[in-house]
Amino acid sequence: MLEDKRILLIISGGIAAYKSLELIRQLRKRGAWVTPVLTKSAEEFVTPLSVSALAEERVFQDLFDLTDEAEMGHIQLSRSADLIVVAPATGNLMAKMALGLANDLASTLLLATDTQVLVAPAMNVRMWENPATQRNIATLKADGVAFVGPNEGDMACGEFGLGRMSEPAEIVTAIEAQLAEGPLIGRRVIVTSGPTHEPIDPVRYIANRSSGAQGTAIARALSLLGADVVFVTGPADEPRPEGVHIVEVQTAQQMMDTVEKALPADAAVFAAAVADWRIDGASDSKIKKKPGALPSLNFAENPDILAYVSQLEHGRPKLVVGFAAETNDVIDNATAKRQRKKCDWIVANDVSPETGIMGGRDNTVVLISDDGAEHWPKMSKDDVARQLADRIAQALD
Ligand code: CTP
Repeated sequence: MLEDKRILLIISGGIAAYKSLELIRQLRKRGAWVTPVLTKSAEEFVTPLSVSALAEERVFQDLFDLTDEAEMGHIQLSRSADLIVVAPATGNLMAKMALGLANDLASTLLLATDTQVLVAPAMNVRMWENPATQRNIATLKADGVAFVGPNEGDMACGEFGLGRMSEPAEIVTAIEAQLAEGPLIGRRVIVTSGPTHEPIDPVRYIANRSSGAQGTAIARALSLLGADVVFVTGPADEPRPEGVHIVEVQTAQQMMDTVEKALPADAAVFAAAVADWRIDGASDSKIKKKPGALPSLNFAENPDILAYVSQLEHGRPKLVVGFAAETNDVIDNATAKRQRKKCDWIVANDVSPETGIMGGRDNTVVLISDDGAEHWPKMSKDDVARQLADRIAQALD
């Protein structure tokens, strides 16, 4: 989908600039054209020669290079691209963008452009957390600038936290999402995914075996069709989908609160394996073992997010899709669940251990709607996600 797309890639000065070389390689591999722009400080981290060799294009560096101005003015350079990507984006460059400063080629291009901009920030965690940076990000988001990352992890400076630039593959997917020409452009979809963890005390919790693989694949597939996806995930190991708005939660109640805040939406897909119960009065301190005495746990019912959203009188998404993980009488149970919760569709699957679906890469699902039960053949979770996303797009058309 990136074939012949033109990306203007602005590389600013940060240690993460080395990852931009791999980003260029991956974009070229997908058939995109990359026009690189280097800031002065970026040249301290990567050489113009290596950048231009990978991009197979000349590198633009200087605003006052008269040859460039004769051949291609900065206005034209800023507008000839399908997308402007800033990776890495330093705190300094984002501050200039937020203020509209234009004192070098990169910032001038960003001020002069009317093309969509995608930013991949990279900086030390303290710089990221600084209120000034957070203010600038809020301004840029309000101006319509898209973001990918940053991620959490070890940093080149030896600290740990948020600020690592997203990996090249994540940036590529975010670019694909920005350039998607799919039928879901302008549509907002909420996707829940993964298990929830319900605390017993600060170190113990109740959970389930959901890997989050199916929900993640659905979020990714919807985003590739152009949807603006809010991905609400419980604690799952599955790598997060790129190019979507991610909210990480622990408990069913937090998932409910997040979904409520994310409304209104055109569609909602509830793929999460939400714990039906939480511990009533979870302990604030670790429950100690007492010889001969077993602890007793009291349960309380969790809110049913799917049922709540399906039965909203005002602001109900046009399409509400639930999942039913069953171990027996799949169709009967799922059909009853659809009627009880009042969602439009139920994607039912048999999660008996012998099917290998929970934790596996494949899925065999039945789509239950007003039209009855439609059996889909066994396929990968990615393919289930793609087919479901296509069906959602048709339903919202
Ligand atoms: N779900 C939800 N909130 C809950 C429980 C479930 O949103 N508190 C959603 C799930 O995301 C899924 C669907 O409801 O889309 C089915 O969940 P499931 O737990 O299987 O349904 P239950 O009604 O709890 O039925 P049972 O546990 O008896 O199978």
